[in-house]
Amino acid sequence: MTRFKNKVFIITGSSQGLGRAIARKVLLEGGKVLLNGRSEGKAVEVLSNFSEFADQVVYVGADVSKAEGAKKIVDEAIKSFGRIDVVVNNAGMSAFGTLEKTKPSVIQEIIDSNLTGSLFVSHFAIPYLKQSKGSIEFISSLAAIHGLGNYSLYSAVKMAYIGAVQSLRKELQEDGVHVGAIYLGFTKNDAVKKTLNSNGDLELVPVRKGLPVATQEESAEVVLNQIYKRKTFVVQSILGKANFLVNRIFPKIIHLVLSNQYRKMTKSS
Ligand SMILES: NC(=O)c1ccc[n+]([C@@H]2O[C@H](COP(=O)([O-])OP(=O)(O)OC[C@H]3O[C@@H](n4cnc5c(N)ncnc54)[C@H](OP(=O)(O)O)[C@@H]3O)[C@@H](O)[C@H]2O)c1
Repeated sequence: MTRFKNKVFIITGSSQGLGRAIARKVLLEGGKVLLNGRSEGKAVEVLSNFSEFADQVVYVGADVSKAEGAKKIVDEAIKSFGRIDVVVNNAGMSAFGTLEKTKPSVIQEIIDSNLTGSLFVSHFAIPYLKQSKGSIEFISSLAAIHGLGNYSLYSAVKMAYIGAVQSLRKELQEDGVHVGAIYLGFTKNDAVKKTLNSNGDLELVPVRKGLPVATQEESAEVVLNQIYKRKTFVVQSILGKANFLVNRIFPKIIHLVLSNQYRKMTKSS
């Protein structure tokens, strides 16, 4: 397939995990990708995964939650490839724990890496996306359908994407820019994936037991299909779709089910 021949993608947070899998698929389909992670020192390691696409990729170490980092990403994409067709706002961190016990610095970091960063990168890229009539895609989560206990920060930032998509669609429709978000389902993590605990320490994400987990390639394909078809909202997985639908009609039922789950989780820990 060559759905993305010569299309230029900025994929934030593509040094590992889902972002890296999306990048690989775009490159295989003839696109060009600006890869990103926070650390400038990771360039050689990240690019070594893409050695067969050397003239189609560039890596930019920059923190999206800083305006200057976001601007650097957009400027480098233009410098390297001359245009921007798609921004995938994928960079983000998760956090676990009650809001009461979470350190203010962690609250700030989760909001900044997921939300502020996505808005900064989109802000700087919009003039170029208007020229290319391109796309902005936000990687949201099933945690954005209905707030989860112990994930108040994560649910809040992922839900905020939905509001951003609704507003941006209006602001950009005359310019032919597509804006979308995916409610991403459980996806296999890299073994090195870390999450911030409420003390502000990074800890490895535990392996998910008993839950259907998509491969990174499967989730990457769902994201790219959405971008290609310019769909606004996509909910991944049967479980996700059922949850979305029932929550729309009977939000109290989902509240009761999730409250029950939360009670069980807090009792067993
Ligand atoms: N995996 C799932 O089951 C799942 C489900 C729903 C939604 N999602 C969402 O999908 C996205 C990717 O998830 P993942 O599992 O692939 O996570 P991951 O393995 O932790 O990867 C996150 C990426 O974001 C980068 N990053 C974090 N903060 C950044 C910042 N401030 N500036 C620039 N880059 C930053 C990291 O790079 P460095 O560490 O090199 O900076 C890394 O490349 C996230 O937005 C996540 O919330 C995941």
